[in-house]
Amino acid sequence: MKSREWNSSQYHRLSQPQLSWGKKLLSRLPLRGDELLLDAACGTGRLTAELLQALPLGRVVGVDVSQNMIGTASDHLKPKFGQRVDLVVADLQALPFEHAFDGIVSTAAFHWVPDHDRLFRSLRQALRPSGWLHAQCGGGPNLLKLRTRVNKLATSPPYASFFANFREPWIFADAETAADTLQRAGFVDIEAGLESALTILDDSTQYAEFLPAIILRTHLECLPDPDLRARFVAQLTQQAAVDDPPFSLDYWRLNLSAKAS
Ligand SMILES: C[S@@+](CC[C@H](N)C(=O)[O-])C[C@H]1O[C@@H](n2cnc3c(N)ncnc32)[C@H](O)[C@@H]1O
Repeated sequence: MKSREWNSSQYHRLSQPQLSWGKKLLSRLPLRGDELLLDAACGTGRLTAELLQALPLGRVVGVDVSQNMIGTASDHLKPKFGQRVDLVVADLQALPFEHAFDGIVSTAAFHWVPDHDRLFRSLRQALRPSGWLHAQCGGGPNLLKLRTRVNKLATSPPYASFFANFREPWIFADAETAADTLQRAGFVDIEAGLESALTILDDSTQYAEFLPAIILRTHLECLPDPDLRARFVAQLTQQAAVDDPPFSLDYWRLNLSAKAS
């Protein structure tokens, strides 16, 4: 059973790539400044804080399925933004909101959600008529080079028996599939497109922290022994050290925008 929990303090510290992608998305938002918005899978709330700053008269509800993430987000956001922010533990596939929000923002999250039909129906239901969705998640060939390496390692000794029943935890939809799913869920004015977001980490220390905390969280749950987990990550870090450029991650982002009909 895959855990819904994250090491939220590590994520908060290491999620600079996610924050910079999120800020780029934020700069494209059609904000008046007084909206009620949903940050769908807000994590530790680093982007939620940016969103609140862009909404001097508005409010944001941050939702995440991980209690740890919501706890850390609450610690960071509540002292600064008070009643302008609410933080709720909930699954994006079954949100407890109906026609509540002017807009929904989501970054670096939809690929972790297993059922995109349920996801988009639930988001659609949370929006007021004509409310908007602006989201970005992993898509298309996201991390293909790394995933190929990980799969090769996971199917060789001494790891193979632990990964016998493992399936990757992500859905990396392509633009066409995501647009069709949004349309089925009742969205209109849909735009979907992939962009490359090659990310270069500083060094082996950062790479060896980033992999288990963010990308390979559920993979490593398969390995019962901490030494084996460390060895798995160390082998991938050694391979990344001789890449050109070293410690690069072949991220691809899927940008989605749409309106509720
Ligand atoms: C990589 S983090 C991104 C967090 C934040 N949006 C950011 O950009 O830093 C992915 C987040 O999605 C959340 N998540 C995954 N599946 C979810 C679901 N079904 N419902 C709500 N949150 C979910 C995780 O708990 C995690 O906080």
